[in-house]
Parts: sequence; structure tokens; C-alpha cells
Amino acid sequence: MDELLHAEELPDAEKPVDIQSKDIQLQDVSFSYDKESGKQVLSHINLKIPEEKFTALVGPSGGGKSTIARLIARFWDVNDGKITIGGVDIRSMPLAQLADIVSFVTQDNFLFNCSIKENIRLGNPDATDEEVYAAAKAACCDEFIQKLDNGYDTMAGDAGNRLSGGEKQRISIARMILKNAPIVILDEATAFTDQENEEKIQQSIAALTKGKTLLVIAHRLSTIKNADQIIVLQNGQVENTGTHQQLLTGDALYRDMWEAHIGAQNWSAGSGKGGN
Ligand SMILES: Nc1ncnc2c1ncn2[C@@H]1O[C@H](COP(=O)(O)OP(=O)(O)OP(=O)(O)O)[C@@H](O)[C@H]1O
Ligand SMILES: [Mg+2]
Repeated sequence: MDELLHAEELPDAEKPVDIQSKDIQLQDVSFSYDKESGKQVLSHINLKIPEEKFTALVGPSGGGKSTIARLIARFWDVNDGKITIGGVDIRSMPLAQLADIVSFVTQDNFLFNCSIKENIRLGNPDATDEEVYAAAKAACCDEFIQKLDNGYDTMAGDAGNRLSGGEKQRISIARMILKNAPIVILDEATAFTDQENEEKIQQSIAALTKGKTLLVIAHRLSTIKNADQIIVLQNGQVENTGTHQQLLTGDALYRDMWEAHIGAQNWSAGSGKGGN
């Protein structure tokens, strides 16, 4: 508690900045969660996430993928280098402006202690009930919400224990859909979901993020093989960048990951369990 209360606040800019484009760049970014121990989580990362394109971030666990997403959303500031959106350093825009243009569905989804309907509406406080229901349908949550005792009016606190990780995540996706921000970051956003729902959500996400800057972090490579650009991250460094086909032929790590993924899929299909 004491540590939290004494934590340094992120300096916040006052005036909104004029941002012309929605491309994201990391320039020579280094970061460690704990400056004292000095364990470098990202070292000298350079990457471009082009505007209105689908970029995927893949790589072994612990490589720093979620850290990159959190730094773009400015949960922390970089130690070295800079992150820009439309050429503007994100530290020079107010946090509120950044929050308006970036929609971030995290690995650990959080529901607030209000009704399910209000939890979705947080994406856009001006949304009508009809818009909330439409977003819920697009994120494949309408069905399970209808089954709750009080449907959309069920308190998230009461329902929280009964909702699966995948269901909570789909509520976060509905919130993201309603928010309709120009930059969308999905961190393992469908990781807990079964295959049938995953395909439906993938289709919704693809349709709803057309024309947006989309960054998807995924372990299940089949969900990102159509990305315009795939960035392979390992041990805090960019190991390679390319399309699925380019990386399959040109990157041993990616090819191994792909083969392991396809192997796991075949195994689960063969064992009669749902695919993963
Ligand atoms: N809040 C934190 N405080 C301290 N260290 C952290 C924190 N979050 C992550 N780390 C460390 O930073 C490194 C990178 O973690 P990160 O979560 O970015 O990896 P990742 O690529 O997203 O992994 P995964 O695929 O398992 O989600 C790991 O060594 C992790 O232990
Ligand atoms: Mg992660």
C-alpha cells in the first residue's frame, strides 16, 4: 500500500495534441519493470505498426509482448527511446487523449462492480441500450448474458465468480467494440475461448477493425496468419518481421512455433477434445 501511494505519478501533458495519422512507432525502446535489479525486459526495440493495418506480435512466453502493449497504452513510461503515434511522442499527449485513441483488451480482464450492461457501456457512455446489445452480440456474449438471473442487469460482482475467463474477456471485447477507437490492441484476446466462439469473435473483430490500426498478440498462430505483418519477439528483442509465408520459409523460430501449433491442433482434434 505504502509503495503504491508513494509511487511516482506519470507526468501528464495538458493540451491535446493534433495527431494526423494513427501509425505507432517504437524507437530504440528499452524497459525494465525494476530499475534497481536492472533486468532488461525490452532492449533497443525498433518497430513500426502501420496505420490501418493488421500487425501481429508473436514469440515465446516472457519475451515482452504484453509489455510492449502496456507501454503503448502508457501503463508505464519507457526507460530509453520513445513511442510515437502519428509521429508524436505519447508522453506529450494527455493520458485522456491517449485513452481515447487506444482501445486495449488485456490478458487479465477486469469487470467493474456495476451491471453487465454498464460494464459494456463503459466503452462509450453515450451508447444506447440497443448499441450495447449489438456490441454484446458481435462479441458473442449475448447468449450467456441472457442466461444470467437478471440478464444484462446482473451485477458483475454477483456474476463474476460464475463467469469464465473467456466470458469476461468477451465482455471486454464488447466494450472495445462499443468504444470504436482508431487503434485497437488485443492481448491474447480470445485465448480462453473455445474454437467455435473464437471463430465467430475473430470474424467480428476483423469486420469491426477494418480501417483501424490493429495490434494482436497471439499464441494461437492460426488466428494471425492473415496479418499484414507479423513481428517475432524473443527475449525482449525483435527477432524477425514478415508475413506468415515469409516467416515460414525464412525464420526457424516462427516455423517451429507454427509446427508446434499445428501439432497441438491435430492432437486435440484427434483426441476428440475441442481444438485449441
Ligand atoms: N508487472 C511486472 N513486474 C515485473 N516484471 C514483470 C511484470 N510483468 C511482466 N514482467 C516480466 O517481464 C518479462 C516480459 O513479460 P511479458 O508479460 O511482457 O511477456 P509476454 O511475451 O507477454 O509473455 P506471455 O506470452 O506469457 O504473455 C517477463 O520476464 C516477466 O516476468
Ligand atoms: Mg503476455
